Amino acid sequence: MKRYEIKYLLKEDVSGLIGSDICVKGWVRTKRGNKNVAFIAINDGSIIHNIQVVADPARFEDELKRITTGACIGVEGKLVESQGSGQAVEVQAERIVVYGEADPDTYPLQKKGHSMEFLREIGHLRPRTNTFGAVMRMRHHMAYAIHTFFHERGFFYFHSPLITASDCEGAGEMFQVTTLDLNNPPRKEDGSVDYSQDFFGKMTALTVSGQLEGELGATSLGKIYTFGPTFRAENSNTPRHLAEFWMIEPEMAFYDLDSLTALEEEFIKYCVRWALDHCMDDLEFLNKMIDNSLIERLRSVIETEFVRLPYTEGIKILEEAIAKGKKFEFPVSWGTDLASEHERYLVEEHFRKPVIMVDYPKDIKAFYMKQNDDGRTVQGTDVLFPQIGEIIGGSVREESYDKLTARMDELGMDRASMEWYLDTRRFGTCPHAGFGLGFERLMLFVTGMANIRDVIPFPRTPKTAEF
Ligand code: 4AD
Ligand code: MG
Repeated sequence: MKRYEIKYLLKEDVSGLIGSDICVKGWVRTKRGNKNVAFIAINDGSIIHNIQVVADPARFEDELKRITTGACIGVEGKLVESQGSGQAVEVQAERIVVYGEADPDTYPLQKKGHSMEFLREIGHLRPRTNTFGAVMRMRHHMAYAIHTFFHERGFFYFHSPLITASDCEGAGEMFQVTTLDLNNPPRKEDGSVDYSQDFFGKMTALTVSGQLEGELGATSLGKIYTFGPTFRAENSNTPRHLAEFWMIEPEMAFYDLDSLTALEEEFIKYCVRWALDHCMDDLEFLNKMIDNSLIERLRSVIETEFVRLPYTEGIKILEEAIAKGKKFEFPVSWGTDLASEHERYLVEEHFRKPVIMVDYPKDIKAFYMKQNDDGRTVQGTDVLFPQIGEIIGGSVREESYDKLTARMDELGMDRASMEWYLDTRRFGTCPHAGFGLGFERLMLFVTGMANIRDVIPFPRTPKTAEF
C-alpha cells in the first residue's frame, strides 16, 4: 500500500484520496482515548504537525499496549475527513505495525516540556522534539536559500580546504592536525618538534576561514562563495561561539566598500525572506513556544534599511551615551574592539535596526584588509544584528603588493609560507572584497533560539564533543 508523508497529507489537496486506503509511518507523539476509541498522534519529521490515527481499542488491544510516546509505527487505513477540530484529515486504522517500542520508564523524551540544557545532554534524541525538528528543517531551508542566492547571481561554489597551514585571521586559534606520536614526537637538534616528519611534511591545522583560498577563486572566476565547516580553538563559552561552525564566504573581484555592504544587506534579507516564505509552519511554532516577537522581527528586518556607521562615529555615540549616564561593563575608547554590549547598544537601543559598521582601526583587524589613506583605519565591515551582535565580518582586501607585504612585516608574519597568496597581488592584482557569515548566527536570528548550541545538530564547544 502506498505510503504518504504527513506533510503531503496535511498540505496538499488530498480530496481525491478521501475514503481510500493509505499508509502512514512515524514516531508516536501522544496516545490518548478511552475504552471505545484511541487517538494516536504520529509525526514523521516531514512537517511540524502530526497526523491523527483513530483506532478501535478492542481490535488493536495488543498493539495499543506497545504504543507509547516515542514508539515507531506504521498504520494502514482509510483517510477520512477529521471529526475533531485541528487537522483536516485523519486515518482510521485497519492495520498497525509496531516497528519499535520505546519503554516509557527509560525513554527520556516524555510529553512534558524539557529544558534546553536537559535536551543538550540527550542531543542524540533531541531532533525528535518539535523544537529541534523545526530548527533542523529551517537549517536545511537556509542552506538551500544560500546556494540559491549565489547561484542566481552568477557566483560559483568554490571548495576551500579544511586542512591548511595558514592562519587566515592571525589569531592563533587553530586545532592542530597531526599523525605524529604525541608521546614521542621526532625532534630537531634544538629540541623542537620536527614537523618535516609529520603527515604533510609541515605543521597543519583545521581551517579558521576559507577566505585566502577564496581570494584565489575570485581573482580567477570573478565571483565565488565557500560554504563549509570552520574551526576555532577559542576558549569562548558564550551563547554565540562554537568550536566547529559553518561559514559562508563570498569573495568578489571588482567590488568596493559600497558594493560589498550592499551585497551583505541583500544577502541577509534574502535569507530572512526565504524563511518567511518557506518555513511558516515551523516559524509559527517557534513564535509560540520560543519567542513571541520572532515573526514580527523577521518581517521588520526585511523592510528596514541597514545603517552604515563608520567606527569612529560609533565610538562617539557610545561616548555620548556614557556621558549621559549609560553604564557598560567594558570601557570605550577609539582603537579598542567593541564588546558585544556596545554593539547591542548601538543596534537595539540607539538605532533600533541592523548596523553595518565600517572603517575600523587597522590594529584590531586582520592583515588583509584594505588600508585607508588616513593611515590608521581599514575598509573592514561588521554587520551587527539585534540579539546576536556580529553576524557578518568582511572587508575590501588590500590589493597592493607593497602595502600588503609592509603590513605583514609589521605584524611579524612569515611571508615565505604565504607566497602562494601573495601571487594574487604579484600577478594581475585587482580590487576585490568579501565577507563571512556565521551560519549558526543566522540560524539564531531566524529561529529566535537563544543559544548557538541549539541551532546545530551536534555542537562542539570547549570540553564537549559528544555524539
Ligand atoms: O569575523 P570573522 O572572524 O571573519 C572571517 O573569518 C573572515 N575571513 C571572513 C571573510 O571576510 N571572508 O568570522 C566571520 C563570521 C562572524 O561574523 C561570525 O558570524 C562567525 O563567522 N563566527 C562564529 N560563529 C560561531 N562560532 C564562532 N566561534 C565564530 N567565529 C566567527
Ligand atoms: Mg569578526
